[in-house]
Amino acid sequence: RIAGPSGLVIFGVTGDLSRKKLLPAVYDLANRGLLPPGFGLTGFARRDWNAEHFAQITKEAVQAHARTPFRERVWKQLEQGIRFVQGEFDDDDAFDRLAATVAELDTQRGTGGNHAFYLSVPPGAFPLVCKQLARSGLSQSADDAWRRVVIEKPFGHDLASALELQEVVESVFPGDSVFRIDHYLGKETVQNLLALRFANQMFEPIWNNHYVDHVQITMAEDIGIGSRAGYYDGIGAARDVIQNHLLQLLALTAMEEPVSFDAGSLRAEKEKVLSAVRLPRDLGAHTARGQYGAGWQGGEKVLGFHDEDGIPPESVTDTYAAIKLDIDTRRWAGVPFYLRTGKRLGRRVTEIAVVFKRAPHLPFALPDTEELGQNALVIRVQPDEGVTVRFGAKVPGTAMEVRDVTMDFGYGHAFTENSPEAYERLILDVLLGDPPLFPHSKEVELSWRVLDPILEFWERDGAPDTYRPGTWGPESADAMMRRDGRTWRRP
Ligand code: BG6
Repeated sequence: RIAGPSGLVIFGVTGDLSRKKLLPAVYDLANRGLLPPGFGLTGFARRDWNAEHFAQITKEAVQAHARTPFRERVWKQLEQGIRFVQGEFDDDDAFDRLAATVAELDTQRGTGGNHAFYLSVPPGAFPLVCKQLARSGLSQSADDAWRRVVIEKPFGHDLASALELQEVVESVFPGDSVFRIDHYLGKETVQNLLALRFANQMFEPIWNNHYVDHVQITMAEDIGIGSRAGYYDGIGAARDVIQNHLLQLLALTAMEEPVSFDAGSLRAEKEKVLSAVRLPRDLGAHTARGQYGAGWQGGEKVLGFHDEDGIPPESVTDTYAAIKLDIDTRRWAGVPFYLRTGKRLGRRVTEIAVVFKRAPHLPFALPDTEELGQNALVIRVQPDEGVTVRFGAKVPGTAMEVRDVTMDFGYGHAFTENSPEAYERLILDVLLGDPPLFPHSKEVELSWRVLDPILEFWERDGAPDTYRPGTWGPESADAMMRRDGRTWRRP
């Protein structure tokens, strides 16, 4: 799987995502020999840079954030294909210069007319950039070449705006040329979820409501919003993470086995699950949201959300969100899926925990059966990638005592291969035109259908609860689980 002649144009190249993820990923791909020798990398931004300056910035980003070691020879080759176009999105002239730059790459570097446009810009700018790409002829290619557009989440602010956005983007690029990035789908462990479920015989027979009690999907971060107030305020945890990453994880956990792993079959199964999601009737009792206050975390004094630079004191944006969902299918009826995410929580961890029912009968008199937890299969998405199984085992001794133990599979121990960064895999897939790891517009739409009523409820419900940094979120989140006789895991 090596990309053919091609180039990548990044809009918003001066942003954080570009510096930390996109530019290093391009270099890593080159370093692994997965890009063509004449690859073109063009930055487009408002700032008054030139190609040399952009190359310097790229080099620094690569040296700071790339996964693979810096090799001068690889860098020199990549550097020769670096271009920069300065301009505003409403500047026709800048897009004409971009068209000329791309044409020049075709003749000088042999990019063959194949170009991907990566919109690492706020969604409000998507329509304008798409229109400009159409006006300047950049969205169309000669018959034997391709043009593709890559858009970053959030795909809209709610269902209505997502549909609008969709219409504009697809009025310029045909559906199969639009690649929506949900970087969680590029993670090894997320893809391993499919291997675990469908390449083995032992898990699938118990993957249903006969054996599973409930599922907890957690994406916790210990960081605050940092310098991202402009993006985050008004968006919040549920839109930022649940609408995309967590609902995708839910879909992959709950879906039926696809006929094959082509994009169409995979998407069809995910869509079935997302359309079967049912919200609890009492949203007040089965959702929770919070905002981190000021306090201490990891021995450091940290700011509360309201004190962060750029956040107005009256902001009701959620930095923590938890929701309970049911899936109305034969496999999952009666098995709640609990989703939670938050900033400034106890630690950085993403996991999917499938928690099993208790054994129907215990033939030994245990002193305290409550001590024995429920069996669980935990897919550790990050940072300590792997899978854990929790079960009861006999404690050595003359008495019959059973206690919880765990059995672990860790990527670091089992494999010597190092895993590519999610963005590497996804950028390569864009250049190859390989769509399975990109959510389809229908999935985006279905996810908003799940989230919209919750967001509307929260809007009417007033301000989120405050929680202390370094904890596992607001009390209301624990209360939500208590109502169901369950507790959140403390990963
Ligand atoms: C992004 C969110 O999609 O994912 C961020 O916008 C979040 O708020 C980030 O910090 C986390 O990504 P990862 O790969 O570090 O889990």
